[in-house]
Order: sequence, then structure tokens, then C-alpha cells
Amino acid sequence: MKIELISPNVEDAWFWHQVRTQETTQRFNNMGVLDLDRLKIKLAESNRDISVKQQAHRYFVQVNDIEFAGVIAIRDIDWESGVCDLGYLIAEKYHNQGIATRAVALILEKAFEQGKLRKIKAITAVSNVASYRVLQKNGFSLEGSLKEELLIAGRPQDAYLWGLTSDDFRTGSRSDIWRKSAFFITTDKKQLQLSRIHRFLSQEAYWCLGIPSSVVARSIENSICFGLYDQDKNAIRQIGYARLVTDQSTFAWLCDIYIEQPYRGRGLSKWLMECIMSSRYVQGLRRICLATKDGHSLYEKYGFKVTDTPANWMEIKYYDVYKKLNAEPTNANPPP
Ligand SMILES: CC(C)(COP(=O)(O)OP(=O)(O)OC[C@H]1O[C@@H](n2cnc3c(N)ncnc32)[C@H](O)[C@@H]1OP(=O)(O)O)[C@@H](O)C(=O)NCCC(=O)NCCS
Repeated sequence: MKIELISPNVEDAWFWHQVRTQETTQRFNNMGVLDLDRLKIKLAESNRDISVKQQAHRYFVQVNDIEFAGVIAIRDIDWESGVCDLGYLIAEKYHNQGIATRAVALILEKAFEQGKLRKIKAITAVSNVASYRVLQKNGFSLEGSLKEELLIAGRPQDAYLWGLTSDDFRTGSRSDIWRKSAFFITTDKKQLQLSRIHRFLSQEAYWCLGIPSSVVARSIENSICFGLYDQDKNAIRQIGYARLVTDQSTFAWLCDIYIEQPYRGRGLSKWLMECIMSSRYVQGLRRICLATKDGHSLYEKYGFKVTDTPANWMEIKYYDVYKKLNAEPTNANPPP
């Protein structure tokens, strides 16, 4: 399907009016009802090429050269700081065909490459899963929760704030994301919930009981992390984790893998392993290692074998490092 962003004619405002008033738009957004004449004025103010520094740039999403499928805009543009907001609406008959995802990719190119903007933000109702999926697929990171940010049908609703910088857009340092029903896995470190990871590792992980939160935070900084999340209409909750310590060229150590107790037995650890082993971080490495007390059958499915050359391996173990640390609170910068 051919998808383009076109600058609409003022007479086409009827289409914008139609998608603004459709049921899904009204359910997830605090969009007041604007009459057609008001929309025509707004459209006239925002339909010029991005080289014109106006407050908003609005496009219609056109499919197969003829039909309008949606409306997309960057607005509240602060040309001085280079920051703006993103919004999009797709006509219901075109939902779930990847159209919003492609339209967002096209407007990001315009905003960052032609408009030279620095950062794009978006706000979604916590319950608007399709919308955050679109942002996640385009590399946006979750930057925070906004309490009672939206007033939808007279009721205050919580929202998420998402952001993407031009650097992340250009360098492709965008995180990876995999999705399965209500769950998603991402390598986006901004989404990691340190207190939940620390609670599990320090209290339930036999290999690092008592690990201080500062050490967990430092290990995150220096690893490729895979967070597993349960996303329902009220919250995004981290329920699993794994990290890779790697030079990203020859070697990786896979560690701190867990799924929280209530979520076990649903195939989530297999899915987490599939995502890790198919990710770009482990392709072409010479060796990937891990240590496990009883998880052999899981890891064997992904090619791991108990080493047949144990005599070639050496190690130093500091099993009581965290006991010592916890007993010596004055040691502010301990070895991990
Ligand atoms: C949000 C919206 C723009 C998405 O448009 P779209 O063209 O359907 O989006 P895409 O097809 O590109 O992607 C939708 C993704 O959400 C997923 N999705 C849709 N409904 C979902 C649901 N209820 N639960 C979980 N995922 C859902 C789809 O499976 C797809 O993800 P995938 O590609 O990983 O399978 C559209 O639903 C819309 O116009 N809603 C009303 C206006 C609105 O809320 N705008 C956003 C304001 S923040």
C-alpha cells in the first residue's frame, strides 16, 4: 500500500472533522468538538511546507494516491528550542494496517531532517495501547507518567509521556522492541524499573542476594538490558529481565535472567530467550556464556551446552561480596 503525507486543501477539512469525531478518537483523547469552519481556519494555518516556521504542520495521510486515511501533525513547535508535540488520527476502517506507524516514520523524517527539530514528544492515554505501539515501533522512549493529564468524556485519565531526540533518530540508537499480547520486551533502558529489578535481584536471586541498588544501577549502565513488561490499561509493570555483558563483537555473558513468580509457567522465559538470541547484539559472536544452577533445559533450547572443556575454564568467585558491602556502609564505591 502506498502511503504519503500530503498538504491538505482547506476544503478537505471535512475529513479531519470526520476522524476527530470517530469513536476511537473520542475514547482516547480529550479532543473538544470543533466545527468545520474552525477546522478550516486551523488547517489554513498549518498546511504549508515544513520550511515555513509556523506553530504547527499538519498533513493528511493518503493511501494509494487517492484516499485519505488519516491526519498527522507536529504542533506547539518551539523553533528556538527545537521541541514539538506529535499527534495522529487514523480513520477506523484503516486501523491495524501499519498506516499510523508508517505516517509517523514519514513525519519524523520531515521534522528531524528538513525541519531540523531536536526533540518530538507525544502524550497517550494510558489505555491507548495501539497508539503507544505506534510510538514504540518508531523508537520513542517512555519518559514518564502524567497523572490525570487528560479529561476524556468529563473524566480525568492518566497518560504517558513519550519522547524521541534527533540524535537517537539519526544514530539509530533506538531500542529494540518485541510484543506479544499484553507483554512487551524492550532494550530501552529508560523503561527499566530499577526498584523492581533491585527487589528481585537482592531478595530472590540466589546468585546475588543482598546486591545494593547502586550496584544494580551501575550494572544496567554498562550492559545491554532486556526488560519484560506487562502492559494493561492501568500501568506498565516490569515483570522480567535479563542483561548481556558484551563487547558486541566477540563475547557476551548472559546474566540476571528472571521472570517474576506470578508470571512463570506462561512461556515468557522462552520468549525472552528467543528475543535475546535473535537480537543484533549476539549475532557473529565467538562465545556466549551463562551460569545456571537448574535452568539447563531452558538454555539448551537456544544452543547452550554444559562446557565439555571445564579444565580450560578458570574463575575467581567473591561469593560474599555483598555481605561484606552491607556490613561496611562506609565503602561508598565498591567493586560490583
Ligand atoms: C492510535 C492509532 C493512530 C493507530 O493507528 P493504526 O494505523 O491502527 O496503527 P498501526 O497499524 O500502525 O499500529 C497499531 C499497533 O497497535 C496494535 N494494537 C492495536 N490495538 C491494540 C490493542 N487493543 N492492544 C494491543 N495492541 C494493539 C496493533 O497490533 C499494531 O501493532 P503491531 O504492528 O505490533 O501488531 C489509531 O488507533 C487511531 O487513530 N486512534 C484514535 C486516535 C488516537 O488515539 N490517536 C493517538 C493520540 S495519542
